[in-house]
Amino acid sequence: MKFAQFNIQIANFKYSEILKFIENQSFPEGWRETDFSKELRKKNSIYFIAYDTTDRIHNIEGYKKATLKNKMVIGYAGIWFYEEFSEIVSVAVLQNFRKLGVGRLLISKLINYVNFHKKSKIINLEVGKKNFIARNLYKQLGFKENGYREKYYLHDGDDAILMSLNINF
Ligand SMILES: CC(C)(COP(=O)(O)OP(=O)(O)OC[C@H]1O[C@@H](n2cnc3c(N)ncnc32)[C@H](O)[C@@H]1OP(=O)(O)O)[C@@H](O)C(=O)NCCC(=O)NCCS
Repeated sequence: MKFAQFNIQIANFKYSEILKFIENQSFPEGWRETDFSKELRKKNSIYFIAYDTTDRIHNIEGYKKATLKNKMVIGYAGIWFYEEFSEIVSVAVLQNFRKLGVGRLLISKLINYVNFHKKSKIINLEVGKKNFIARNLYKQLGFKENGYREKYYLHDGDDAILMSLNINF
């Protein structure tokens, strides 16, 4: 049975290698080549990480690379801020920890952050047409599909679906 207890915190540059590890586990090779050491120092972006709070899951083999000071990171989500809108750049959860609500919580944290800290209340993102899992996740959180870019992703020729959320809390 899958089991996890997790908390969320803001990431800093010390988590660069861990986020790279999770990115490599989560996306096809050549799709994303994020330089997290730069990304996590940017002034116009913020990344949240989800970390596991149980010893049991800390012992899962192969995931030591995701651990910093006994804190095992299981997912991340990042966003960039502009004047008029914010844009979700990426979200990824380690495979062993999927379908536990981690992705939803990470994206919810980004939405709340924009709501409380930013003037503009529009959040945009783009997602692969074939990525039904991520599209479901965003739809569940209120994002609406409002456009597409044909053959946008070079690694597999998939179209990008554009989605937006207008926050009216
Ligand atoms: C997309 C991703 C971040 C979801 O993370 P997750 O922690 O497993 O998602 P959650 O458990 O929070 O699920 C939230 C919702 O997403 C959708 N979802 C999640 N897994 C799904 C699956 N296997 N099939 C269909 N929908 C799914 C559902 O709507 C789900 O809500 P529900 O549990 O009430 O059905 C994860 O699958 C992942 O890392 N994928 C690879 C990277 C990626 O594609 N990122 C998105 C790029 S735009």
